[in-house]
Amino acid sequence: MNHTLNITTHTSSLSSFPASRWKRLPDVQVLELSIALLVFVVIHSVRQRKRKGLPVWPFVGMLPSLLLALRVDIYEWISQILCKQNGTFVFEGPWFTNLNCIVTSDLRNLEHLLKTRFQAYPKGPYFRHALHDLLGSGIFNADDDIWQKQRKTASIEFHSYKFRNMTTSSLLELVHRRLLHVLQEYVDQSTEIDLQDVLLRLTFANEVIRTRKKEVLLQSDDDTTQRSDLLTIFMGLKDEQGQPFSDKFLRDICMNFILAGRDTSSVALSWFFRLLDRNPTVEEKILSEICRIVKEREDEGKNGNLMFKPAEVKKMEYLHAALSESLRPYPSVPVDHKEVVEDDIFPDGTVLKKGTKVVYAIYAMGRMEAIWGKDCREFRPERWLRDRRFMSESAYKFTAFNGGPRLCLGKDFAYYQMKFVAASILYRYKVVVVDNHPVEPKLALTMYMKHGLKVKLCKRSECDLMMNLNIKY
Ligand code: HEM
Repeated sequence: MNHTLNITTHTSSLSSFPASRWKRLPDVQVLELSIALLVFVVIHSVRQRKRKGLPVWPFVGMLPSLLLALRVDIYEWISQILCKQNGTFVFEGPWFTNLNCIVTSDLRNLEHLLKTRFQAYPKGPYFRHALHDLLGSGIFNADDDIWQKQRKTASIEFHSYKFRNMTTSSLLELVHRRLLHVLQEYVDQSTEIDLQDVLLRLTFANEVIRTRKKEVLLQSDDDTTQRSDLLTIFMGLKDEQGQPFSDKFLRDICMNFILAGRDTSSVALSWFFRLLDRNPTVEEKILSEICRIVKEREDEGKNGNLMFKPAEVKKMEYLHAALSESLRPYPSVPVDHKEVVEDDIFPDGTVLKKGTKVVYAIYAMGRMEAIWGKDCREFRPERWLRDRRFMSESAYKFTAFNGGPRLCLGKDFAYYQMKFVAASILYRYKVVVVDNHPVEPKLALTMYMKHGLKVKLCKRSECDLMMNLNIKY
């Protein structure tokens, strides 16, 4: 029998009620109180449900619902609430905490906070402090001048011919010297692999390090001018006092660029292969496109160790559409955040007081009927094509790469990288997800698959490839 219940519900008469007598409370009284509490809970839940929102409890606010959702799929849970609430809801945390925030997936609000009123919606101190240990003052976590300086420097570099050349050739080397060899070893041994894990070991960070190592080997110590990586460039810059950047700041910069470019593309590719496994007709159309492009070749390398050229990768428009269609429901960055620095009103009428935290649910946006139509839950790359040409969407509707002045700096490179890797794998292997392998997103800043992606690879023959040639898309 639980007497704690009686104590908390009769606090006003505590002094006139000696402790020894609590034990003697008749069972029936405890039962009555339990029933009263149960009735309160039920009535409260029913009344809250009528408002379509989440139940708000005294003291703990909406926390109980959030804790329950953490045990299932939190992203799907947020998506469903946002659908019911027409795209925006206010999350009320426990009293006396600062967990309150506005969660939105309304594309008008997204354009407002990412572009129109960009200055009023920085990342803000709350999230900056929360993520400081991981991101420090790097580009992801910075605002104002610190952000602007990194953005400008990196932007010039990312768009330079030298940098593009370097990353393209490093990617080619990485895929052909490492990735395809590793995959072939698994095929030879007929073993299953965790494709997400293999892809996570690839990517941008390795490319930069490998390129830098190669440069160091090739160049003498005083010949640093030839180097073209972000670290070298930031090392040459000065702060406001004319001093070189501290090692800590340089570490933050590197860490942020590694995080930005490393896991995002690999995770996106993992979800993409999972979707192809479930949608074989899309896979056939991608192969048809690749085979046509290869057939147009007049020179060497139609078979054997075929390496896709940059111009060929650019021509893969159906593949580009399929990758975008996969990033729509499975964006590598599932939610992002801001903090408003002055009172404001969202285009949907939501009132924001200065200091309000705003979470925008990128994951939910890709799954909303109001945004993508009735077939929003279908994997249909065709929605991105007009006359077989890829048509991009507004950055405030397709928010996987963010939008406005903080649009992803690596977007073009990420597409190139993903297309190159996907085409190189698909041309050689059929990727089959192992039966009953559980696939669910992990709760993290990047949307990893919680249990990885266990697959088997089947080598494609010339004949298999040719069969796709005439498939229309
Ligand atoms: C599928 C791949 C990728 C996706 C989905 C993606 C998505 C994003 C998103 C959502 C942001 C905004 C983050 C925020 O402000 O909180 C972002 C920013 C950024 N991304 Fe990407 N990204 C990808 C690949 C890359 C790659 C390969 C690079 C670099 C080579 C890169 C470099 C950056 C940088 C530097 C920023 C910071 C921009 C700023 O704050 O001004 N990204 N990306």
